[in-house]
Amino acid sequence: MAKNKPGRSGFTSYPWCRLSQTLLFLNVLAVAATATATADDSNFPSSPIWSPHPSKKLTKPVVLLISSDGFRFGYQFKTETPNIDLLISRGTEAQTGLIPVFPTMTFPNHNSIATGLYPAYHGIIMNKFTDPITGELFNRNLDPKWWLGEPLWVTAVNQGLKAATYFWPGADVHKGSWTCPKGFCKAPYNVSVPLEERVDTILSYLDLPETEIPDFMALYLDQPDIQGHEYGPDDPRVTEAVAKVDKMIGRVINGLKKRKVFSDVHVVLLGDHGMVTNCDKKVIYIDDLADWIKIPADWIQAYSPVLAMNPRWGKDVKNPGEKNAEVVAKMNEALSSGKVENGEFLQVYLKEKLPERLHYSESSRIPPIIGMVGEGLIVRQNRTDAHECYGDHGYDNMFFSMRSIFIGHGPRFRRGKKVPSFENVQIYNVVADILGLRPAPNNGSSLFTRSLLLPFGETAQVE
Ligand SMILES: *[C@@H]1O[C@H](CO)[C@@H](O)[C@H](O)[C@H]1NC(C)=O
Ligand SMILES: *[C@@H]1O[C@H](CO)[C@@H](O)[C@H](O)[C@H]1NC(C)=O
Ligand SMILES: *[C@@H]1O[C@H](CO)[C@@H](O)[C@H](O)[C@H]1NC(C)=O
Ligand SMILES: [Zn+2]
Repeated sequence: MAKNKPGRSGFTSYPWCRLSQTLLFLNVLAVAATATATADDSNFPSSPIWSPHPSKKLTKPVVLLISSDGFRFGYQFKTETPNIDLLISRGTEAQTGLIPVFPTMTFPNHNSIATGLYPAYHGIIMNKFTDPITGELFNRNLDPKWWLGEPLWVTAVNQGLKAATYFWPGADVHKGSWTCPKGFCKAPYNVSVPLEERVDTILSYLDLPETEIPDFMALYLDQPDIQGHEYGPDDPRVTEAVAKVDKMIGRVINGLKKRKVFSDVHVVLLGDHGMVTNCDKKVIYIDDLADWIKIPADWIQAYSPVLAMNPRWGKDVKNPGEKNAEVVAKMNEALSSGKVENGEFLQVYLKEKLPERLHYSESSRIPPIIGMVGEGLIVRQNRTDAHECYGDHGYDNMFFSMRSIFIGHGPRFRRGKKVPSFENVQIYNVVADILGLRPAPNNGSSLFTRSLLLPFGETAQVE
């Protein structure tokens, strides 16, 4: 989630969602999920694991989306992960991981996964930020005005399907036909609820009559992010947390098998971002730039892993944009002078000039000046600010350490298939396609779903 520290959940103070709500009509359209015994296709490796769809208990497509916070790509090689391995061998995996959006933080990424939009378009541009125009603070607020775009649970209920969410960041915001119905929308986040209880609650929905089973379910697991922050990604306690997450996946698989729906339910396992240590003690001190430019602390909204600056110009300043450009130029001059300690690890931009690949300019909520911080580096105002050693994320999404995992398993996912890494904004379309939903406008490519999914109804034609 956010920055480390035990008991850091300002979260637990969120009011419980009080509204219970009439559940919407089930999806009459729900055509039978495609069976997968296809004679297709050139994309399949001739894999012995691939076998015809053995049973078909559910007659509608169901998606269970599971997020493991801070599950850095590569963690699956730290220890035995037999359950994750099972999903991989029988499903589709992003072979070198899932690419998060920038900034690689929890709230922006969970909302990009849910909406298919980059943060500039879904509005959650950091976990915590101040709107430069209104001066209002966003700190995981539930007021829908902050949450732009249309998350999957809203798309689902707007189009007559049912949805359920468990601690998914932002899922307790009321939008469209989604009112976070009691019993099907577990919130607010509570770190003390055991992962087993979260998994079992989701599984219990599958005991409902089929028409009542949520078509879309989203489950949030806060490990191994907690341990990664506290001890850094290489600590044995992170390895233990990875094993724990794998156990939870095993619990999901067994629960589905027990209910004879393991081959019917689409399980998508992913993470929001990776983790990197900042224990190398490479720090950039803003006050070290003073010979070039003095930057007051109250211009800075966030130091690292993303430097976010909103200079406060007086009323007399006619062209703040020009002044901001001067600040950027002066800062970069200082940083590249060779005279600022670790200066080479920070580059400052007017947000409009950030590399296009970051998609991080088209929002008035993004402060005018953004500094891209080197991998694992820390930015502080001055040397009196204590530096503790821990793990962090939020850095450039180009860094491999920020990557997470993606595995899709179920009738529509190609079996034993590896795909190249892709950005998490693609996932919205994939889930919408499986559920037969009309996607809201988003930043994924509609063609992308073809690389992960078997065409809908393909088998009908083949048979
Ligand atoms: C959080 O969960 C624990 C364990 O279930 C429970 O005892 C506690 O009351 C919960 N806290 C809140 C604020 O709901
Ligand atoms: C260091 O920066 C902090 C703000 O981050 C400020 O409160 C403190 O007074 C500064 N100390 C010195 C010695 O400038
Ligand atoms: C992302 O999607 C939104 C909504 O369709 C659109 O306005 C925006 O231009 C898109 N941005 C990019 C970079 O594709
Ligand atoms: Zn985190």
